[in-house]
Parts: sequence; structure tokens; C-alpha cells
Amino acid sequence: MPLASTWWLCYEAGQPQPRGQENVAAGMRPIVIGNWKMNGLTASLSEIGKVAKWLETVRPSCDVAVCPPATLISKVVESAGGVLAAGGQDCHWEPSGAYTGDISAEMLADCGCQYVIVGHSERRSQHGESNASVRRKAKAAHRAGLISVICVGETIEERQAGHTLAVVGAQLDQSIPEDLTEKNTIVAYEPVWAIGTGLTPSTEQVREVHAAIRQLLSGVPGRAGLGVRILYGGSVKPSNAKELLGVANVNGALVGGASLKADEFTGILRAYT
Ligand code: PGA
Repeated sequence: MPLASTWWLCYEAGQPQPRGQENVAAGMRPIVIGNWKMNGLTASLSEIGKVAKWLETVRPSCDVAVCPPATLISKVVESAGGVLAAGGQDCHWEPSGAYTGDISAEMLADCGCQYVIVGHSERRSQHGESNASVRRKAKAAHRAGLISVICVGETIEERQAGHTLAVVGAQLDQSIPEDLTEKNTIVAYEPVWAIGTGLTPSTEQVREVHAAIRQLLSGVPGRAGLGVRILYGGSVKPSNAKELLGVANVNGALVGGASLKADEFTGILRAYT
């Protein structure tokens, strides 16, 4: 059952933030998550080693996680688990069973993951994932004690048609589970047209969407979503990180390509030093 199915009809740009939000935002620790996608062999672990070393020295004021391919999760946990967290890039909603090639949330937790990305636009477009399946996966993550990172974002056609807030609102509304809390869920806004393209929305466009997402989350029963971290993702790099991460209601970043190289990833993390 959608939680707030008509929220975007009520949303007006520039309207006051929900009460109490300033305090929540002030106490919220941002997080930067690297999404390696289908990249990385054992040799790539040296990049994680460099990031871990940097984190031990610099200690930015944010949490840091890396979602490597499943083949490397255990090695990341073993080599850098004390310094950064590991996450999966997807999970099945069942704990076990005849699902060849899939990985359950319990299996990710078992090999040391703390997070799992669900509903990334590449899963939605290349694997036909629906909002309903994303919601089941998020629930499975929570059942296994993982933090779900639920991704939403509009295509370029949807933005050009002026439908961004409606599309993102509907995706989120139908993807977030009823058991959402600020502890078990993170939302990532990733415009599809910004992923891997080098293009980014303007800070005003980011501000508008993140404010709308915050408003939707604040309507979750019991206001459970008010403290949920909202990440921006899509072509984040060292040169634009500070600006994007400085936008209101941006509580961190989901980083693809630039998370593969330690220099670039730490260049982004520098925004929190
Ligand atoms: P990108 O990818 O940083 O390479 O644009 C982001 C993502 O897909 O999470």
C-alpha cells in the first residue's frame, strides 16, 4: 500500500521545511557510498587499501561504504572492515531457495555487509525491476539487519517533460517499505541521465528534488522517515563534490565511476573534511 500516494500534488517548490527538520539535519551523519558495479578484480583491492589508509589519517566527518562486486565483498571486509563498511549491489527478497545466480540479504549480512543498494536504475532498466520488487528487496534487507539504499531518479525525457517530481515521488512512494526508519533506510536520488555521463543537475535542481523527497519521507507514519539520509548520485567527482554535497537535504553521495580509484574517491570524501 503506497504511503503517501498523492504527495507530489501537494508539493510546492519553496514551501517551508517540515518542523523540526533543521535539528534532524544537524544531527545527521552523512555517508558516501562507492558503487563499483561490475568492475574490480582482486588486484583492485589495493585501491580499497589506499582509501582505508587515507580514512585512518584524515577521518572525514562522514560514514564511508564501498559496494564491490559480490566476489570481492569478503576480501573488502577482511582487509578494510574496521575502517569502512561493505555493501551489496542488489539482493533477492527471499532468504534462500532455487534462485540461480541471486544473492539473499542474509548472505550479504553473513559475509560482513552492512548495506545493500536496491532499485539502482541499471537494475530497473536492464533487469526490469519494478517498484514492488524494490520494496520487497528493501524489506528483505531490513529482515537481515542490513541498511537498504533505495535508488530513484528520472530519465532525461521525464525531466524535459516537467515530470521529475511526479516520477521520483511515485517511485519512492511505491519502493519504500512500511518498516522504514532512519536507521534501516537510505534514499539515493540518481537522475538516470546523470549516471556515468559526466552531466549533473544544477544545484537548484538537486535542491528541489531533495526537498521534495524530504517532504515525502516526513509524511511516513510516525515521522519515521524524517531522519533518513538522502544521497545524491550521478557523475559525482572531486571537482563537483563540495558544491553538490553542500545543497540542503543532501546527506551524502552514491558514487559510481569515481569510487574505483582511491585518489578520486578520497577527493570526493574531502568535501567532508
Ligand atoms: P556514476 O554512477 O558516479 O558513475 O555516475 C553513479 C551510480 O550509478 O551510482
